[in-house]
Amino acid sequence: MGKLREHAEIAVWPVDELPPPSEVLVREAAASDGLISLLTDRIDAALLDAAPRLRVVSNYAVGFDNIDVGAATERGVIVTNTPGALTETVADFTMALLFAVARRVVEADRYTRAGRWQSWGPMLLLGQDVCGATLGLIGLGRIGTAVARRARGFAMRVIYHDVARREGPEQELGLEFASMEEVLRLSDFVSIHVPLGPRTRHLIGAPQLALMKPTAFLINTARGPIVDSGALYDALAGRRIAGAGLDVFEEEPLPADHPLLTLENVVVAPHIASASVKTRTGMALMAVENLLDALAGRRPPNLVNTEVWERRRKSKQEGSR
Ligand code: DGY
Repeated sequence: MGKLREHAEIAVWPVDELPPPSEVLVREAAASDGLISLLTDRIDAALLDAAPRLRVVSNYAVGFDNIDVGAATERGVIVTNTPGALTETVADFTMALLFAVARRVVEADRYTRAGRWQSWGPMLLLGQDVCGATLGLIGLGRIGTAVARRARGFAMRVIYHDVARREGPEQELGLEFASMEEVLRLSDFVSIHVPLGPRTRHLIGAPQLALMKPTAFLINTARGPIVDSGALYDALAGRRIAGAGLDVFEEEPLPADHPLLTLENVVVAPHIASASVKTRTGMALMAVENLLDALAGRRPPNLVNTEVWERRRKSKQEGSR
């Protein structure tokens, strides 16, 4: 905030409140040259039309599915995000969810607190081993690769599917490329690391869940709508898969009466995979730098719609000829 104030007049919606109602967001955007948005702020064509002054939308997140990037590009509005800043922190949390479901950590906590612990028992709260298990990654970008690195440290076999082979990390970490179907069939843990877009919405539905082993777990720290939550509920409730660790949901916040919350074999978190002090500070600084660069006419380091920048550059060049 201090850095922003040095360069601009700012209007702030308090972070400890619910997101601004859309009419407030539109009103404030209309009076602004730049906007730092959260993933809970919908930046669509209607907002952009109401805000002709707006030159940049700097998203405080690596994902930008809350923004209609096409509409921003058409209107010459720069969109930026915060890649890299949160990679390691999200990978840590992915492993935390993986261990939590494999070793029933949350269930064990509930059991102990409820006073149900009578005696040590050979069959008490048996889980699944992580060491030696197969991890299947759907998506091997920055976060997927960071998860793979951790998993290799735990002596897991790591297979992955992505739109293209990633030979660098494959060789460096000893990963195996596989078809989507193979990843689903062979993995003891399937973890999702793709962005949300039209091609990945409900990428995991009933047919995909049916391919998974009954002893396998699904981990999602990417975006909720990548998984069909109705199909996931059915698979978990019917024990067609063993469990799930979920940080993201089709509907956020997850309603307290959501059917998923009735299941013992699910560990849930409120979209906090990147929530460490260091990472959230890093994301904030990155969002500020992106915004200030764009406003000052410099190319922001984390430009999403490079076309807007190229168009500006060309029209400047033509102007100076
Ligand atoms: C992101 O950055 O996209 C995460 O979901 C929140 O940090």
